[in-house]
Amino acid sequence: MPDRFEILHKDLAGRIGRLSTPHGNVETPLLMPVVNPHLPLIPPEELALMGAGMIITNSYIINQDQELRIKAIERGLHDLLGFSGPIMTDSGAFQLSVYGDIDVLPLEILDFQFAIKSDISVPLDIPTPPDVSRERAELELNTTEMRLQEAASLKREVLLAGPVQGSTYPDLRERAGRFARGLGFDLYPVGGVVPLMEAYRFRDLVDVVVAAKKGLGSGVPVHLFGAGHPMIFALAAAMGCDLFDSAAYALYAREGRYLTVHGTRKLAEMKYLPCSCPVCQKYTHQELVDSPQREKELARHNLYISLQEIKLVRQSIREGSLWDLLEARCRSHPRMLDGLKRLGREGQWLERLDTASKSTFFYTSQEASLRPEVLRYARRIGRISLEGEVLITSDPAADSSRFDNMLLYKPPFGPYPRELAETYPFNAEVPEQADSAAKEQAERNMRELMTANPEARFSIRIE
Ligand code: GUN
Ligand code: ZN
Repeated sequence: MPDRFEILHKDLAGRIGRLSTPHGNVETPLLMPVVNPHLPLIPPEELALMGAGMIITNSYIINQDQELRIKAIERGLHDLLGFSGPIMTDSGAFQLSVYGDIDVLPLEILDFQFAIKSDISVPLDIPTPPDVSRERAELELNTTEMRLQEAASLKREVLLAGPVQGSTYPDLRERAGRFARGLGFDLYPVGGVVPLMEAYRFRDLVDVVVAAKKGLGSGVPVHLFGAGHPMIFALAAAMGCDLFDSAAYALYAREGRYLTVHGTRKLAEMKYLPCSCPVCQKYTHQELVDSPQREKELARHNLYISLQEIKLVRQSIREGSLWDLLEARCRSHPRMLDGLKRLGREGQWLERLDTASKSTFFYTSQEASLRPEVLRYARRIGRISLEGEVLITSDPAADSSRFDNMLLYKPPFGPYPRELAETYPFNAEVPEQADSAAKEQAERNMRELMTANPEARFSIRIE
């Protein structure tokens, strides 16, 4: 089978990719709206018009309903739902995690997904929740892995996903990633993370996803199961997640909640609709509150805002500014900031993947001191070799005629060769008044440089 996933651009561990399926190609990062086969709140034809390139539905729900099951087998899934683009189906594993038991065998539900011509089928994995005992996490992972092995051995004409479980044990997640990758699936969902996202445990989410990614390697498409809130798309994409699915747009609408990229608001408590999507243009706040179509219209707004954020993530990857978007998004909630800081600690891993050639970056918050470029320079500064009289100055116009070497000084980098002043990352736009994180990093770097060059004599003129 030819390679179904092609990476077109990269930034941090994120990428723009192209995934090919029997019903066409899609560009990633991609959000798949979840469609309830019983009563789609927004009809799939309309989802397509709103810009959804691919949708996801639940094969277990279809299989449990006699009428839907027969229609799906006779006419195919695409006809049943009225969507001509790619459709992914889930296996009912999530129902298993909610209800404790389901009424179908693993191979049965996989065969059913093949029979109804799903573009991407998912074996029946076991979504182990966070924080369970290690014994339980391992036991359930063993079962999931057995089922993956069984699934991978089947002949298939469509794409097959290999979910990665392992609860909150990074070593199990990494092992699960490596195991699934070894079997050769077409897509790798990271599962069992919905409870982490619901509880705003973004630091743990970063640990789990990064561990899974380390096991999976960087070349394969990854789906973050159940990630539907636009607030986290930038963070998830920066870790190398390519597909997301959103039931959130509909679930939140049912509860009268209005999604924004900064978090969720209660429609009843708002006064304005601070958005320009067709819904928010058509209604005033009060009209939307009073509308008999409120739930559906709110769902449409929620989805518009989510699809828009995906496009912004793509544009940011394309221009190499994903970190800036991350910094902005992580201002929305302290736990998001914790997640970003945890990702910053994965500097070496990020750095290896972050090969984008970039334009100037803007230093606008303390977290910029955690950027991969900044940490990379900190690790390399000790390799700069200097002799004789060395001037370190923050003034690019300083008279250096009496010196053998001149380095410019700019937080968060500290000293750097002046020949590099116009090149990335030293051309960063920084505030006139450096913050403490930038100053500390710069001073650490300067000490490192001086220690590495004990023979040189330094003159330091920094403001
Ligand atoms: N939907 C949300 N989480 C999961 C998961 O872990 N596995 C599957 N199959 N579906 C999910
Ligand atoms: Zn809107």
